[in-house]
Amino acid sequence: MQAREILLKSRPEGTPAAQHFETGTVTLPDPGAGDVLVRNIYMSVDPYMRGRMYDRPSYVPPFQIGEPLQGGAIGEVVASGDPAFKPGDLVLSMLGWRTAFVAAGTALQKLPSIPGVPTQAFLGVLGMPGLTGYAGLTQIGEPRPGETVFVSGGAGAVGSVVAQVAKILGCTVVATAGTDEKCDWLRAAGVDHAINYRTCGNLLAAVREAAPKGIDIYFDNVGGEHLEVAIELARPFGRFVECGMIADYNATEPAPGPKNIILVVGKSLKMQGFIVTNYAHLQLQFLQDMGKWIAEGRIKWEETIHEGLENAPNAFIGLFSGQNTGKMLVKL
Ligand SMILES: NC(=O)c1ccc[n+]([C@@H]2O[C@H](COP(=O)([O-])OP(=O)(O)OC[C@H]3O[C@@H](n4cnc5c(N)ncnc54)[C@H](OP(=O)(O)O)[C@@H]3O)[C@@H](O)[C@H]2O)c1
Repeated sequence: MQAREILLKSRPEGTPAAQHFETGTVTLPDPGAGDVLVRNIYMSVDPYMRGRMYDRPSYVPPFQIGEPLQGGAIGEVVASGDPAFKPGDLVLSMLGWRTAFVAAGTALQKLPSIPGVPTQAFLGVLGMPGLTGYAGLTQIGEPRPGETVFVSGGAGAVGSVVAQVAKILGCTVVATAGTDEKCDWLRAAGVDHAINYRTCGNLLAAVREAAPKGIDIYFDNVGGEHLEVAIELARPFGRFVECGMIADYNATEPAPGPKNIILVVGKSLKMQGFIVTNYAHLQLQFLQDMGKWIAEGRIKWEETIHEGLENAPNAFIGLFSGQNTGKMLVKL
């Protein structure tokens, strides 16, 4: 069986473009004892993958030039030399941008079937981004009913979970997003104040108007001006959940720090970064809570789906100009 893969052709300087990727073809071996042949159905493209395109030490090793990009994918078992898997099983892997692969069964996770929930939700609302939002908000943000939560990137995969879980936990939610359509969707999902940060004119004034008494929790997906605004409007003992700073991922020079960072001292703010894998132990609790909230109709989600392996680079690049509402996926 032949498989197609997307390889990193060169390391991007600034915003990634089509020229940084190329398609390769490999012949897959028959699966040996303990191995499984999987045909991918959905692949995830995620902002953190941009960090892996830099050749520098990090919490995950860098992608290598000429090697396929890795990341979450859902596929169907075609043939199995591992008794734990049979043809037709749906599995989650981290082997990423390829149409099919052979891997040890130990590298795969069999996916459950949940009525009313499409399988690809395990790459989004019920997958890594969902756990990121759920764990970051509950464990670092420690929301209490009546508090005000400000979330940037509110209509994205992580942000939309944060916004809705914060509502379920009794908070007032202010969210930003880059289009009016995304803001409308956030309002329909129950967000109290959705602000189009691109057209609002003055982000500080817009968030202040939405949260006149200040914010208790800032869930940061964006960094940059959003972070500065959140520091300015934080109430004493506010919590900053530092999840990501996508505004800086393509920067060619180090981004300037927030010029009001001194306020962290006087306001007794807590700022804590995290990586979702820190909270792997919450996976079961997360699935139980999210499953219940989804069944109750209290969590909604969107997907933006590109078709075909060759469109994976476009889908990935689109994350940096807000081409997605909810989870950005590639369907194979
Ligand atoms: N710490 C962790 O373990 C962890 C895990 C997963 C994700 N993350 C981080 O969480 C954040 C969200 O990830 P995601 O997977 O949910 O992606 P996403 O929000 O679904 O997609 C990225 C979104 O970011 C927004 N964006 C892009 N450039 C921007 C800019 N310069 N300023 C403001 N907004 C910008 C765009 O929406 P707009 O239209 O609103 O601009 C875009 O749709 C990222 O920072 C990511 O790195 C962290």
